[in-house]
Amino acid sequence: MTSDANEKANSSPAQPETAKEERRDIDPSTGRSVPYKKANQPFLVHQRYLAKQARKEELKKARAEGRTLPPSELDDFDDDAPIARFFGITFLVAFVAIGIAVLSGLFFADDPLWGYRGKWSNWRTYIPAEQHVFTPDRLMVFNGDDDSLPVLLSIKGDVFDVSAGRMHYRNGSPYHNLAGRDASRAFVTGCFTTHLTHDLRGLSRQQLDALDNWHKFFNEHHTYYKVGRARLPPIDPDSPVPEPCKTSRGQKPA
Ligand code: HEM
Repeated sequence: MTSDANEKANSSPAQPETAKEERRDIDPSTGRSVPYKKANQPFLVHQRYLAKQARKEELKKARAEGRTLPPSELDDFDDDAPIARFFGITFLVAFVAIGIAVLSGLFFADDPLWGYRGKWSNWRTYIPAEQHVFTPDRLMVFNGDDDSLPVLLSIKGDVFDVSAGRMHYRNGSPYHNLAGRDASRAFVTGCFTTHLTHDLRGLSRQQLDALDNWHKFFNEHHTYYKVGRARLPPIDPDSPVPEPCKTSRGQKPA
């Protein structure tokens, strides 16, 4: 191929590979132009950083000695500027959007959260409580009998602090038996005296789904929060499946 033909081929837009080859970078450590290669980028970024640091030192020294240095393109060069600008703008937009949402909530709904109460309005979501393992005996200490202690209950083995709803669980309240233990079965059978167990054998698909909903209720509550797991004894497969009770309470209407 002649040199003319070569040039033509190199400048042709129909050959992007060739155009890519022509891209070049400056290696600040040598000042030499080097072919652009993706693999070289980390090295070159580091070299630019070093060159900038060296230039800064040089400027500082010159200033201390009362000298001025000829300007360099490194003086305007800031590696982090685009990234910092991106995060700065994103933060500002998010801040303004949240501010508008909160203020309009206060104005229109009398509530900065527009009535939302759930997992994301619970500060424990952001600073989770220390997690513990509870034996059944340990769990029973927190069954709501003693007003000076937190009220805990377990569902599907997850232990939640429900002290904020103490009125539902203290002695004499209808749901007192659900506190201080894992009574997962009772949550879906409504047998609040005979099904105080984590034995889920024989439950229907619908009941298991209802149990998941109860778990979600506690897990995503706006004041309750998870404090650990219950160490529950394994269910003996040879033991009889709990009988349905006569005094079953129907599911709470949605
Ligand atoms: C299997 C059946 C049921 C279970 C497992 C159950 C469980 C519970 C629990 C755990 C609470 C306390 C919620 C909390 O900590 O905030 C509660 C509250 C309540 N339940 Fe039930 N319940 C059942 C059926 C019913 C039925 C049939 C009714 C009414 C006809 C009812 C009415 C209420 C009311 C009024 C409250 C208090 C208000 C509230 O926080 O929603 N429940 N229930």
